[in-house]
Amino acid sequence: MKKILFSLFSFLILNMLTAQGKTLVTYYSYTGNVKSIVDELIKAQNADVVEIQPAEEGLKYEADNYAIGSALISAIRNNPDVAESYPSIKPTNIDFDKYDNIIIATPLWWSNMAAPMQSFLFENGKYMEGKNIGLIVSSSSSGIQSVIADAKRLVPEGKFSNESLWINDKNRSNMASLLGDWITTLNFTNYMAEKLLITIGNKTLTASLLDNSSSQAIVASLKKSPISYEAHDYGNFEKVGSLGETFPTNDEQITTEPGDLILYQGENLCIYYDVNSWNFTRIGKIDNITQSELKDFLGNGNCTITISLSSDSKINDIPSSKSTDLTYDILGRKARYPSDDKIYVIGGKKLIKH
Ligand SMILES: Cc1cc2nc3c(=O)[nH]c(=O)nc-3n(C[C@H](O)[C@H](O)[C@H](O)COP(=O)(O)O)c2cc1C
Repeated sequence: MKKILFSLFSFLILNMLTAQGKTLVTYYSYTGNVKSIVDELIKAQNADVVEIQPAEEGLKYEADNYAIGSALISAIRNNPDVAESYPSIKPTNIDFDKYDNIIIATPLWWSNMAAPMQSFLFENGKYMEGKNIGLIVSSSSSGIQSVIADAKRLVPEGKFSNESLWINDKNRSNMASLLGDWITTLNFTNYMAEKLLITIGNKTLTASLLDNSSSQAIVASLKKSPISYEAHDYGNFEKVGSLGETFPTNDEQITTEPGDLILYQGENLCIYYDVNSWNFTRIGKIDNITQSELKDFLGNGNCTITISLSSDSKINDIPSSKSTDLTYDILGRKARYPSDDKIYVIGGKKLIKH
């Protein structure tokens, strides 16, 4: 039952992930434990999978009390910066440009990352710059801190998820549900650098925009001019109104959370303050806000909402010589200090209140 639930769950989550960027799973497995984790992981998703294989076949890493495995790890520990310390692996020829998200699944050897996976990352870590990285480590019992450190040393510019998944002999039988939980912690969502500003009256919030063709078209329109629209409450879960323009859709079945920005039928922008499930397009999420703060911001009933881009805010228009003792809201109007707004400007600097 758990397995079915996990499969359903991973299907939903991982399809969501692939909609927001393609995922590559790379793994090394000597005795098959990591392979079974990866098999479970990819049961219901479209991720590409690459197995790392040592160039030299048939080595018994565990022979003579793990003598070979131990020697390989010692060589890397002694000289981690030189290519000769890493055992040769078979070529992988991965086009990293295709992927936004990479899952690295590896065994632990003598507290460190298994040597062949270290070889792969030593050769390819530089191509993973800016990618979202999730790490899965399998050991008998040893903790995985040194493996996490190895991964970060070898992929210094990777955007690692906060939680790595540790599967060991005690929790291995529970692998399916552990994977299901871990997947929800991944940061495999790509946001645009451009922030959206949402203004009602004299209050403004920032939102992060998902990088999809709908948000891109909205950003292109906002670059010409901000959009103001009339919005009303609907269904006790959203403030919705027509943007007066039609944008491309990327509809999928979504269960909303407070703060979600949803494009409905290509022209309506919905700001969600509660839960709803429907087939529509997620374009982003309001930053750092609780449900009650959001409800306060949106108020009851009809309102006029203005959306604009953070790069177009009037902050740059404030002359620095005059700005030292003045406070402004995000639209460049003088404001009280301390300001009630989420974002305000004082001394020429943009401040975001959390
Ligand atoms: C060379 C070598 C060294 C190992 N060192 C450790 C260790 O220090 N601590 C530990 O808990 N497990 C250790 N193990 C066990 C593996 O981490 C564990 O069995 C893992 O699940 C193997 O994954 P795999 O079956 O995909 O190869 C070692 C295994 C090998 C082959």
